[in-house]
Amino acid sequence: MDERNLLTDSVEKRAVGIAASLVVKSGMVVGLGTGSTVANTIRELGRRICEEGLEILGVVTSYQSEMLAIEAGIPLTTLAQHPEVDLAIDGADQIDSNLYAIKGKGAAHTREKIVSLSAKHFLVVVDDSKTSLHLNKAVPVEVLPFAKELVMKNIFNMGGKPELRLALRKDGPVVTDNGNFVLDSRFGIINDPESLALQLSLIPGVVEHGIFSNVNDLYIGKKDGSVNIVRK
Ligand code: A5P
Repeated sequence: MDERNLLTDSVEKRAVGIAASLVVKSGMVVGLGTGSTVANTIRELGRRICEEGLEILGVVTSYQSEMLAIEAGIPLTTLAQHPEVDLAIDGADQIDSNLYAIKGKGAAHTREKIVSLSAKHFLVVVDDSKTSLHLNKAVPVEVLPFAKELVMKNIFNMGGKPELRLALRKDGPVVTDNGNFVLDSRFGIINDPESLALQLSLIPGVVEHGIFSNVNDLYIGKKDGSVNIVRK
């Protein structure tokens, strides 16, 4: 988990995080995403377990979401015990009109992708600053440290600008929960996210990139506390 992804909160993040928790029903195995928006969902699920008798099992996507879930009192399981997740809920850094998303500002996108692709349904929660007609933010690419130079060269050759993500104090690289590095890679406007995703996946040494094409529902929190829902 990237220490720079601090859990700052806002009215819209709270509203959307709580709205998403209402989709969760007793008996579900729920993927618990990482970041400040879905942190509100995790806390609300904890409240519903405690006050309403909601019975669920959570699958975490990072040490951050594990700590939050334990604090909230959510019983946890693993993909080894429950390979099929009913619903995954997670935040995003940017999402376009076709529901392609960029994730990984918290360096948790590899486990987030595995959990969301293990789920029958993937719901993303964002505040309205995250929506965009086209994706144009840097794509986080998790790489094996041993392969960093080769991956950077390949991304340059694809027309991208990779930059090694540094820790807050700039005294070393950010290290993911999987022990790897992150290359924040700029490609300008991404007109074809599927094709870019495929090209990145083919580079030897790439563990996972932050382009997600499996979002089913998008919940968007607004400053007035209302929530818009977009379904694919
Ligand atoms: C974690 O690596 C990311 O994919 C987060 O899901 C994403 O950064 C959203 O975080 P916020 O809700 O804090 O913006």
